[in-house]
Amino acid sequence: MSMNLVTLLYLVASVCFIQALKGLSHPTTSIRGNIFGMTGMAIAVLTTIALIHGQARSLNVDFGTGIAYVLAAVVVGGGLGAFMANKVEMTKMPELVAFMHSMIGLAAVFIGVAAVAEPWAFGITAAPVAALIGANTPDGAVILDGFVRYAIPAGNRLELFLGAAIGAITFSGSVIAFGKLSGKYKFRLFQGAPVQFSGQHMLNLVLGLATVGLGLVFVFTESWPAFFAMLALAFVMGVLIIIPIGGADMPVVVSMLNSYSGWAAAGIGFSLNNAMLIVAGSLVGSSGAILSYIMCKAMNRSFFNVILGGFGGEAATTGGAAKEQRPVKTGSADDAAFVLGNAETVVIVPGYGLAVARAQHAVKELAAKLTEKGITVKYAIHPVAGRMPGHMNVLLAEAEVPYDQVFEMEDINGEFGQADVAIILGANDVVNPAAHTKGSPIYGMPILEAYKAKTVIVNKRSMAAGYAGLDNELFYMDKTMMVFGDAKKVVEDMGKAIE
Ligand code: TAP
Repeated sequence: MSMNLVTLLYLVASVCFIQALKGLSHPTTSIRGNIFGMTGMAIAVLTTIALIHGQARSLNVDFGTGIAYVLAAVVVGGGLGAFMANKVEMTKMPELVAFMHSMIGLAAVFIGVAAVAEPWAFGITAAPVAALIGANTPDGAVILDGFVRYAIPAGNRLELFLGAAIGAITFSGSVIAFGKLSGKYKFRLFQGAPVQFSGQHMLNLVLGLATVGLGLVFVFTESWPAFFAMLALAFVMGVLIIIPIGGADMPVVVSMLNSYSGWAAAGIGFSLNNAMLIVAGSLVGSSGAILSYIMCKAMNRSFFNVILGGFGGEAATTGGAAKEQRPVKTGSADDAAFVLGNAETVVIVPGYGLAVARAQHAVKELAAKLTEKGITVKYAIHPVAGRMPGHMNVLLAEAEVPYDQVFEMEDINGEFGQADVAIILGANDVVNPAAHTKGSPIYGMPILEAYKAKTVIVNKRSMAAGYAGLDNELFYMDKTMMVFGDAKKVVEDMGKAIE
């Protein structure tokens, strides 16, 4: 295959990836976005195989065995990915993403190690150092650290160092993030609570400097021991960077690691002179960084606050039980249905609990019954409701809720004042008026102003706090009715009562 055709096909794949990102930005276009993504990836993989075929022929290397390995990896990896994606529950999605990032990181490390060991096989130009050529070495080879080696240009060494180091940090960091998110493992480092100790930041700094130092030794001398020592330190750093972060902050961390994995791929792409890897890696790197920024902004927290804070660890592990026991007005599903049935406008606020209860289909049915009665129903979506970006949009889309009923925070906040009922289903922090109180840990976080509705119905199982571990003044307001119980059961009961 000619290089011009390869470049053209890589360009087509890049455009597909950009279209995929664009499509995934809205539920109505997300399927199209996914199709673009899959098409782009298929073009990229097939073109790369054709490219390797050409290179193998010109180097007179056996192509068959290599391609058999590649195809086996595609079948095993692709099959496993499809199986897991199909099986995963919506609430477990961040774990799946963390797991996949760990694989990208590990892939970058493997490619880095292989390229350092056999640079000729990756098309990295050999530039022998005349003084070091041994009598019995093959053409163009040098002896370094006792091994027959092909000298790698300094620029490539720098890219390999960066790609492999970021890949190693991404791998071990993502494994810890996966453990913290799943909450299933007893291992201390996999617990949601932050692991902090004195001198931690200093240790991280020293390790960071040592990693860079060893990387530079590799860049200047092409020393294998320096490269592998650098990799070992990068693996340790990945663990140390993530353990002080609370389990509940993991979605931000996962998005950050997503960004790292993209940069690792881009770094390796430079070394391999592969434009596709550079473009795809940069797209992942920049979109992950933008997403982390948006998430931090929606929580009114700085990136450093997330990385250094350990915020949310308590809430994530214990459910953050509220300390105070103050009286609240409670009602049954029937009472709530009565209030809803007499309203003209109802705003539904879904939250993390709705996802846990998998109540999205029941909510859609309830909304349909209200609409049949001539009641206007709207859904209010907070950008960080749930535990992953777009969590609520995905849930509602899964239940095929009409998109024209779904409103983003900026568009719906002005309407709460006129709404007869705001019904909050498994949401807590995203409607917590404490965000308006100076000194509160969530002060400044934009919230859905459900407290402005004429009547507020809140469904959750208990008075336990949400992710931020804070009490919610909204629950104690005179106009608020608490309906305790699992969201699915409560919403189904409301639907029956409305009938
Ligand atoms: P939360 O504040 O976490 O509150 C969820 C509430 O759901 C809990 O108070 C819980 O109370 C209730 N609940 C749990 N299971 C339930 C069930 N089966 N039925 C009914 N209720 C149930 O959720 P939110 O309001 O969606 O806010 C999300 C939080 O996560 C924000 O603080 C946000 O900053 C944070 N966060 C989000 C993201 C993204 S990207 N979405 C990333 C990082 C952090 P009970 O236990 O009493 O039932």
